[in-house]
Parts: sequence; C-alpha cells; structure tokens
Amino acid sequence: MFNRLQRVWRMLALTLGAALLLTGCGHEQSSALLPAGPVAESQLWLIKLSLSVMVTVIVVVAIIFVYVLFRFRARKGQTGIPKQVEGNTALEIIWTVVPILLLFILAIPTVTTTFSLAEDFTQSEDAVQVKVTAHQFWWEFEYPNLGIVTAQDLYIPTGQTISFELTSKDVIHSFWVPALGGKMDTNPGNNNMVNKMWLQADKEGVFLGKCAELCGASHALMDFKVVAVSPEEFDAWVNKMKEGPAAAEGVALEGEKVFQQSCIGCHAVDAGMRSIGPNLTSFGDRLTLAGVLTMDDNETLKQWILNSESFKEESKMPSFEGQLSDEQLDALVEYLRGLKLQ
Ligand code: CUA
Repeated sequence: MFNRLQRVWRMLALTLGAALLLTGCGHEQSSALLPAGPVAESQLWLIKLSLSVMVTVIVVVAIIFVYVLFRFRARKGQTGIPKQVEGNTALEIIWTVVPILLLFILAIPTVTTTFSLAEDFTQSEDAVQVKVTAHQFWWEFEYPNLGIVTAQDLYIPTGQTISFELTSKDVIHSFWVPALGGKMDTNPGNNNMVNKMWLQADKEGVFLGKCAELCGASHALMDFKVVAVSPEEFDAWVNKMKEGPAAAEGVALEGEKVFQQSCIGCHAVDAGMRSIGPNLTSFGDRLTLAGVLTMDDNETLKQWILNSESFKEESKMPSFEGQLSDEQLDALVEYLRGLKLQ
C-alpha cells in the first residue's frame, strides 16, 4: 500500500515538474498566450472562456462525486440493498438546463468571433494585401499592390489590417504566427483553393512564424519572421525595396558574376520579380539564414550554398559541392552579404 502511494506521489511530482519546466518553453515572440494583435487576442479570449467553462464543470462534478462517495457509502453493520430512489424532477431539470446554458455561453461568442475573424479584406483599399506562397521549405511574400516580392522576412506596418491570400507551390502547408493569430492552411492547386485570412500587429517587434502542417522532411525547419514596424518605417522599407540593394564593388562584384552564372536561374535580386527560389533582394538584411540558421557566420552560409540538404533535408536547392572554387565561393558570400537595403 505504502509503495503504491509512493509511486503515485512520484508520478504526481514528475508531472508537476514537467509542467513547470514546459511553461518555460513559451517565447515572447511566438506564444499564443502573449497576443500582439486583435486576432490573437480574441482567439486567446475564446481559449480562456472555454477553458473556464470546462474547468468549472469538472470542479463541480468532482465535488458532487466525492460528496456522494462519502455521504452514501456502506456503513458499519449495514446489510442488504438500501432504499432505491427513482427520479428527481428538480435535479433532472437542473442538469438539463445548466448544460444548455453553458452551450449558449460557449456558442454565441465562438460563432460571432469566428465570423468576425473570417471577414474578407482582400478587396479593401485600407488593408495591406499580401499573397503568401508556401514552398518546401520556405515562404514567399508578394505585395501585389506595391509590386514587391520578398521571402522569409515578412514586413508589415503596425495598427493596420494585413489581408492574406494563401496558396502553396507543392504540398499543403499551414501559415501560423502564434503571437498574431492563425493558423490557416495553404493549398496547392487552382485559384479556388486560395485561403484568406487577416492579421494585425498592434506593437512593433519580430514575431516568429511557423509551418503548422507536416509537409516533408524539413517541416520543423520551415520558419519565417514577421517584422512589424511603424507605418512610416514600412513606407521607407517599401521605397528601399524598390530601389534595391547597393551596387556591388570589389570582391562582391566578382561574386555578382558567379551569382549571374550559378544562382540567377532560381533566385531574383529584384523586388519586382518572382523566382523559383527565394527572392534575395534584401538577403543581407535577413534575420536568419533559411529561417533557422544564424546569419552571422560565413562558414554556415558557404556550407548552405555547397550542400543545403545538410541543414534542411529534401531542400530543393541543388548542391554546389565541387562546382565553385574557394575564391568563387568567398566572392559569392561577399556579394550575398552585401545585398542590404540602403
Ligand atoms: Cu511546410 Cu510544414
């Protein structure tokens, strides 16, 4: 008996310990529990509402259950079956009416919130329009009204509705920015399969985006960043994107030649163009390399160019192992690093 109790306590302690540890996994930039905009806020409110209804039901039922266990347990000296009770009109009305009320409490806010979040802003002049195309394993962002294409880092102005049209080039992915709201599938195929959603960031910052649908070997590495800046900064970014990066000089100029021979087939360095691979117009300003790697390290960038699959399995970028000399690779890295907005 003692051993069993000990085991129960051990399990309980372990569970509590794990729960405490896991609470540390929340990241301010990627937590649905720390909303940074109205969509995430209303979604969190729904979570809290349904959670409190469920917890209240569990607590009330548990209290009644324990009470009944003690109140009606077999007493010393008691023999035979106790007096049987059949039906209780008052009780039956209570346990029919209460769940109906709870259902209304859950249903009305859920349905109204769901409809308000499904509002279509794709024709709205006031909203910033963004077309999201998911690829194995990166994200393309096109601003059709601004004539800009970029990848991996999604710039948005704060305090404005951002209207998304979501599609995929290959398999089903899912677009998710936990701190701003979501998520929504991106489907491959014809235009009838375009999903729409809107988000808004009320504060400046970098918010982590994730692919939330198992889409292949590197699904877990299919990250992106949402960079929310003030509307003025956003306008400045748009203008700088249109101007493009500073012209290459010196070693970088050599690198540009390598780029024109080896990379241009898949990558554009022109914010107005879509390309097979990620648009690299502002590559030097990226917050991360390929969504998950550090930008600071030249060796990582070289290794990525030579063999991207060593970081992201099933990456579509061909291997350049043995195709570039050390000098060419150095120059190419110099050129790519210089692709910064002015
Ligand atoms: Cu794309 Cu998972």
